[in-house]
Amino acid sequence: MTTNERGQGTTEAPGRELIEQALAAGAPALDEDAGKQFFAAYGIPVPQGGTVTSADEAVRLAQEIGYPVVMKGSSTQVQHKTDAGLVLLRIGNDTEVREAYGTLESRAAAVGATLDGVLVEHMVRGKREFVVGLVRDLLFGPVVMFGLGGIFTEALKDVAFAVAPVSEDDAYELMDEIEAKTLLGAFRGEPPVDRAALAKIIMAVGQMADDHPAIREIDVNPLLIDGDQPVAVDALIAVGEPVEVSTRPPADISRLGDLVAPGDVAVVGASADTSKWGGMITANLILGGFPGPIYLVNPKGGEILGLPVYPSITDLPDVPDLVIIAVPAKLVNGVVEECGRKGVGAIVVVSAGFSEAGPEGRAMEDEMVAIAEKYDMALVGPNCMGVISAHQKVYGTGFMLVRPVPGGASMVSQSGNLGLQLLVSAERRRGGVGKFIGVGNEAMIDAVDFINYLHTDSDTNTIVAYMEGFDDGRRLLEVVRQTTLDKPVVVLRGGMSEYGKKAAASHTGALTSSTAVFEAAARQSGLIVVTDPDEFMDLTFALAYMPLPPGTRVAVATLGGGWGVLVSDEIARSGLTLAELSPDVTQSLNKILPPFWSHSNPVDMVATVTQGVPEAVVETLIASDAVDAVIVMGVVGSMSESRRAVDEIETLKAGGGSGGRGPTAGGSPAAGPAAGPEVEGAELALSGRELSFINQNAALMDRYCKPIVNISQRPMTQAIFSAGGRYSTFVLPSPLRGVRILGKMASYSAYLQKKGRDLRC
Ligand SMILES: Nc1ncnc2c1ncn2[C@@H]1O[C@H](COP(=O)(O)OP(=O)(O)OP(=O)(O)O)[C@@H](O)[C@H]1O
Ligand SMILES: [Mg+2]
Repeated sequence: MTTNERGQGTTEAPGRELIEQALAAGAPALDEDAGKQFFAAYGIPVPQGGTVTSADEAVRLAQEIGYPVVMKGSSTQVQHKTDAGLVLLRIGNDTEVREAYGTLESRAAAVGATLDGVLVEHMVRGKREFVVGLVRDLLFGPVVMFGLGGIFTEALKDVAFAVAPVSEDDAYELMDEIEAKTLLGAFRGEPPVDRAALAKIIMAVGQMADDHPAIREIDVNPLLIDGDQPVAVDALIAVGEPVEVSTRPPADISRLGDLVAPGDVAVVGASADTSKWGGMITANLILGGFPGPIYLVNPKGGEILGLPVYPSITDLPDVPDLVIIAVPAKLVNGVVEECGRKGVGAIVVVSAGFSEAGPEGRAMEDEMVAIAEKYDMALVGPNCMGVISAHQKVYGTGFMLVRPVPGGASMVSQSGNLGLQLLVSAERRRGGVGKFIGVGNEAMIDAVDFINYLHTDSDTNTIVAYMEGFDDGRRLLEVVRQTTLDKPVVVLRGGMSEYGKKAAASHTGALTSSTAVFEAAARQSGLIVVTDPDEFMDLTFALAYMPLPPGTRVAVATLGGGWGVLVSDEIARSGLTLAELSPDVTQSLNKILPPFWSHSNPVDMVATVTQGVPEAVVETLIASDAVDAVIVMGVVGSMSESRRAVDEIETLKAGGGSGGRGPTAGGSPAAGPAAGPEVEGAELALSGRELSFINQNAALMDRYCKPIVNISQRPMTQAIFSAGGRYSTFVLPSPLRGVRILGKMASYSAYLQKKGRDLRC
């Protein structure tokens, strides 16, 4: 009999011998008995038991443990014991043990396997089964999983992940992440699970990965809850060659000053033809009003827009801080070398035809990096859209004429055309941009380096990135973790494909996906992830221009019922709650609104847009301590309607034409005393009253430091209306979009508060 004493570990790296034995035997995994000894060495409770090789031994061990017992046939040829009928539960006496022994032998034979032994162990009583597991992700390294366990683990897929090392906070968060979290509370006569004990197990599994590079996967499945205590009744520890996790050291970003705040800029490949990349970059730079010298370089020479064109970098009268290169790929490295010799600080290589084009291109790209390093130049690209540093009036992007106004949101994009689309969208919404960096092939500086840089950039209050991939998940996690404590980071995630998906030995391995791991890293680092470009832009400017909601309670002010219903549904889906109106708020609203108002949240203002009414309602709501954010629907975009009607009637009376549906020009008597110039470019012309409502909203955000989101009654493109204060009014065309951004803002706010950070007020 090999009754083992589970629970004997060494002081350093517990269970090392067990791992070494399995490796020495060339086994892909520890057997279940050894696995349980290993868990016990880390303080994870396991049932008393051991492995036997005869029925007599089984009886003796069962008597020693005490009935009822469980018997399991163990065989390296069987991956899932239950599937082969090799787990027998509730064995109550000696006779049943002998019978069970025979059954296991014949069932093993039936699937063509020989038994290495039979595990006899204490039958743990418990109804609830969980799983804790570990896999090694190729980008993020060890990842811990927790979820609903037992034999239905894969069928139900109710699991959550955390990148190791797992902190105590992470462990508790994992418990809250799963759908079946109610099972952790009191359940069908069972007491609530000892969460502290569970947290210790989750953290221990993370620790195992750190201690033993040879561990590839772990399943503690099931973790059966006996009373309130978790017990590991099954153990799988797969071992083998250590897994190589991809890494990428941070780039030297000390010369980025020359990139984002150059004193003078040169464009190589400058052209008068704006259908060429160099031509459009030249146009954007000049039209953008860059205050320093702009040097244009093209061997053809001549003059563009009154500026002389120099034949080469070497011929320039001065040393430019920044050089943007848009010449054919074959010529690029020669120019880069010239830049180095000249003493240039930063270069942006817009040209394509490098590593994205094949091995030859890759070799040229490697050479480009080597030259840049030799001369200590910062290199962006190649194959990128260019850069913008709006506060410094550096508009250095190609392909389209685009110059968003300066603002606090800075963007990093791994895609050229998507980056452009975002810039165009920012421009149309009047959303300000601080910096835009198209990182292209990231030959020297990658998106993570730029996020790290923007963390310290004083022009940036919000960092947003379009990312399709990255080389070093741990560094991303660390950089984002640091950054989000000070500035929100939003990632628009492009289809990051599944990587390194191999046949998994464990339940954990089978349930892991690169998406799930990325989302875990995001949750752990406060990163906000979206997959829809519109939502990305909504969120970018919501974060850049509005305060964060201190909590999840939303008050809705609406002109009619239907929107209120839809919004209430979306509030529930977005992790928000409808604020309860306190008696004093209700009383105040009684004084403002007609007697038939809704008397609850959503506050239906029953189409009352009389001067002063929506203003007073919004102020009453945002001032309430029971309200964290306000959504106002229909006020913007409807006040101008009565004026339009008057205008059309006047036109009709005067014998004019149809009156048209387009925006009218100028003020009119019906627009009230505040009528003023309309907002141009808003598609919908706003009346003076609407503008004053918008300004009041901005002032209220400044005063109460809570967001107010406006939903327009009619479509508009402009989203940001600055009133010159700290915050700006944000107008969206759809109520659901408004709710979704508030949901994401509230969860970032909760993250900051959990980390002990003040909200930015
Ligand atoms: N010691 C025990 N006490 C109580 N129940 C047990 C015990 N061991 C196993 N069980 C029950 O039997 C089920 C199957 O056992 P086990 O997890 O060992 O096999 P398996 O899941 O088929 O193996 P694998 O994880 O390799 O697929 C468990 O989910 C659990 O409900
Ligand atoms: Mg199992």
